[in-house]
Amino acid sequence: MSTVRTPRAAPLPTTTGFDVLRWRRDFPVLQQSVHGKPLVYLDNAATAQKPQSVIDAVARYYRETNANVHRGVHALSECATAQYEAARDKVRSFIHAASVREIVFTRGTTESLNLVAQSYGRSLLRAGDEIIVSHMEHHSNIVPWQLLAGQLRLDIKVIPITDEGTLVPGAYAHLLSSRTRLVALAHVSNALGTVNPVREMIALAHRHHAIVVLDGAQAVPHLPVDVRELDCDFYAFSAHKMFGPTGIGVLYAKQALLEEMPPWQGGGDMIRTVRFSGSTWNELPHKFEAGTPHIAGAIGLGAAVDYLQNVGMDRIAGHDQELLAYGTEQLLRVKGLKLVGTAPAKVGVLSFVMDGIHPHDIGTIVDQEGVAIRTGHHCAMPVMERFGIPATARASLAFYNTRDDIDALVAALGKVREVFR
Ligand code: ALA
Repeated sequence: MSTVRTPRAAPLPTTTGFDVLRWRRDFPVLQQSVHGKPLVYLDNAATAQKPQSVIDAVARYYRETNANVHRGVHALSECATAQYEAARDKVRSFIHAASVREIVFTRGTTESLNLVAQSYGRSLLRAGDEIIVSHMEHHSNIVPWQLLAGQLRLDIKVIPITDEGTLVPGAYAHLLSSRTRLVALAHVSNALGTVNPVREMIALAHRHHAIVVLDGAQAVPHLPVDVRELDCDFYAFSAHKMFGPTGIGVLYAKQALLEEMPPWQGGGDMIRTVRFSGSTWNELPHKFEAGTPHIAGAIGLGAAVDYLQNVGMDRIAGHDQELLAYGTEQLLRVKGLKLVGTAPAKVGVLSFVMDGIHPHDIGTIVDQEGVAIRTGHHCAMPVMERFGIPATARASLAFYNTRDDIDALVAALGKVREVFR
C-alpha cells in the first residue's frame, strides 16, 4: 500500500449572528402545518424549498415573457433570450467560472454526469482505460460510468471508505496510475455528508494526466464553490437542491474540453448548419443544448443564485456548521441512535439508525409529528452495503433550519422510542 495519505478537507468557515428567522420567512412552504403540527422540513438533500423570489421569477416569465429563446426577432423572444442568458451568467459568477461558454444547462446533475460519460467518455476513452470512483458515490455518479465501461470495456476502480465515512487514507493515490483517465467524485456525499478533499485529489489526478468530474449536487447549497480554484475539469449540480426549480441543472466544463467533445444530443439550437451531406455545430455552450430548453427553470435558477448571494454563501456555510454541531450533539443523546457518517469535514447531513427500528418506521412516525426526513438507501446502495445496513433515516439541513427544528426531530424520535418500547 502506498504511504501517500489522502489529504483531509480544510476546516469549514463558521460564523455567528446569522438571522435565520429573517430568511425563513421568504419560504412559503415552511409556513404551513402537516398533520396538525408546524412543518419541520429536514429533507433538503432530496430537494430544498423555494423562496418567494424564485417562485415569482418563474411565474413572471410565464405571465409576461413566455417565448422561445435564440429563435425569434420579436420582442418577447428577445426578452426571453436575454433572461435565459442572464441566468447563465449568474451561474457562471456563482461558481466563478471564466466564461459563460463553460456553463451548459441540463436537466440536473444526473443528466450532466451522463453527458460527460457519453460525450467525453465515449469519444475519448479506450478499452483498458480506468475510471476511479469512490465508495460513497450517488448512483448517478456510478451507473453512467458502468454503462460507459460496458460500451468501451473500461475498468472501474473504487476508493474504499472508513467507518467514519471518509476516503481511506492513501487508497486513492494507490489506485491512480498511467491507465487512469477519469476520476468521478462527490464533492459532498448525499448519504453521509462527508466533504471530500477534492482540491488536493484533483491536483493528484492531474499529475497522472487524468481529468476529474465532480458531483457538486450536495455541495452548492452548503459551501462557496470556485471551480477555477478547485481546478476541476467538470462540475455537475442541480437547481432544485439549491432552492431553484426542478428539471434544470448545470454542467460546468473547461472550455477546451467542451470544444474537444462531440455533441451529446442532436436537434434544434445545437447546430450551425444542417444538410443531408452532414451538419455542423453551434458555438459553446449551445452545442450541448439541443431542443427548447427549460427556460423558466433557468430563470428560476438565476433567481436562486441571486437569493443565495444575497444571503451570502459564507454565512450559509457558517450556519450549517453550527447547526450540524448542535444536531450531532442532540441526536447522540437519543437512546440507541447511531450516526452513519461522522467525518471531521461534513455538511449538515445527519444519517442515522436506531437499534431494532427500521428507518421507514422512524420516517413514518416522525412525519406524524410534522417532521419531514428521508429514509432509505438515498440512491447510494454501496454506502449502505459498506455499513452493513439496508437503509438509514436522514435529516438534511438548509440555512433556514433552526435549533428548534432539531429539537422537534429529537422530540419526534422520543415518540418513535415510545412506540417501539
Ligand atoms: N439525491 C437526492 C437525495 O439524496 C434525491 O435525497
